[in-house]
Amino acid sequence: MNLKKVILIQELNLGHPLKSYLIIGFALYAELTNQHLKRRVEIMAVREIRTGIYSVGAIDWDRRLFDELIPLPDGTSYNSYLIKGSEKIALIDTVDPTKEYELIENLKKLNITDIDYVIANHAEQDHSGTIPKILDVYPLAKVVTNPKCKDMLKDLLLIPDDKFVTINDKDTITLGNKTLEFILAPWVHWPETMFTYLREDRILFTCDFLGSHLASSDLYGADEAKVYESAKRYYAEIMMPFRISIKKHLERIKDLDIEIVATSHGPLYQKPEFILNAYKDWISDDVKNEVIIPYISMHGSTRKMVEYFVDALIKRSITVKPFNLTRTDIGELAIALVDAATIVIASPTVLVGPHPTTVYATYLVNALRPKLKYASVIGSYGWGSRMLEHLKGMLTNLKIEFIEPVIVKGHPKEEDYRALDRLADDILQKHKEHGVISP
Ligand code: FEO
Repeated sequence: MNLKKVILIQELNLGHPLKSYLIIGFALYAELTNQHLKRRVEIMAVREIRTGIYSVGAIDWDRRLFDELIPLPDGTSYNSYLIKGSEKIALIDTVDPTKEYELIENLKKLNITDIDYVIANHAEQDHSGTIPKILDVYPLAKVVTNPKCKDMLKDLLLIPDDKFVTINDKDTITLGNKTLEFILAPWVHWPETMFTYLREDRILFTCDFLGSHLASSDLYGADEAKVYESAKRYYAEIMMPFRISIKKHLERIKDLDIEIVATSHGPLYQKPEFILNAYKDWISDDVKNEVIIPYISMHGSTRKMVEYFVDALIKRSITVKPFNLTRTDIGELAIALVDAATIVIASPTVLVGPHPTTVYATYLVNALRPKLKYASVIGSYGWGSRMLEHLKGMLTNLKIEFIEPVIVKGHPKEEDYRALDRLADDILQKHKEHGVISP
């Protein structure tokens, strides 16, 4: 224990032996935690991807929520890449500001004394937030990005104007024996997003695009099934609203010779077709023979309807995925939205409208803009309900056809179960007419 801690303990020791013990205990715990963190830093190894190209970012094993909204069951990483050319050195994206220590330490391990360019593919702070620190440590570095991203970085991080080099689509900069080409890709998340292509090594740095929230010590993600699941969750939660833009940008890069896709979250891909084919499937207009049912029930009436309806869909060979909104991970709901043809929202009535938790889920569905084709509503009410109008009015982003709902007074009765059978028949018929593919 160092002198500073001993003095602190003496200053806070008010004479009571138990209090003194607690303070000493806390100080020891803090010291142990600090050692633990230092060991973690050692784990954040610099990895050489190709000669002169290094992964220098940070893995965030413990993060469980992103944007105070998105669950991260598997943590995440903030990938940053250092490229040493024969004449100049570039850093591609940085890390979340909570991890700036790891990035700076990794650069020290490589004995980097100067950086010429910091390439900013995206302005969001989990990638750009350590740029100010890099500019402090490497004062000659310039931030290379497109005009839109420059404006955003000035607003978000207060980076001075004279620190920027502005590039446009297809522009290049040379590092000597290595060439960076910039491909503007607006709206694969934000309006300023872009990719950087390292020509000589055929590496495409895509930042958020094609990424996954997956903390892993494998640089390339050896467990393909896990990477697929994490990448699909990531697409569902972050990229799905930009499906149309993504189609356009995938088309633009289809002839690019890519050997490695290096994203800024999760493992890299040394088989680019793995993730590119997955995206082609997710963004396609095809929907599957699936119904998802986000539901909530207060006194059991809506639950009875959901249970009956799930059974009715199974009998008709339709894949059904119910999500109890009181306990579901919204990421799981988002994943299901990538493929499903139909959503049936199930809710009781609260003060003539839908239950507030249903409102939250419906708002999210609308914001994520899945390729759903059909929607309906089931649920119950005590004395009156305008639930259907509310929920319909919340799904205006979606090009969907509404199928006749089943909203019942109180506990469902025999005729209500028959109405649920009719709804299941209608969905089956619609799926057949649309030619949905089997999951
Ligand atoms: Fe990973 Fe849009 O930030």
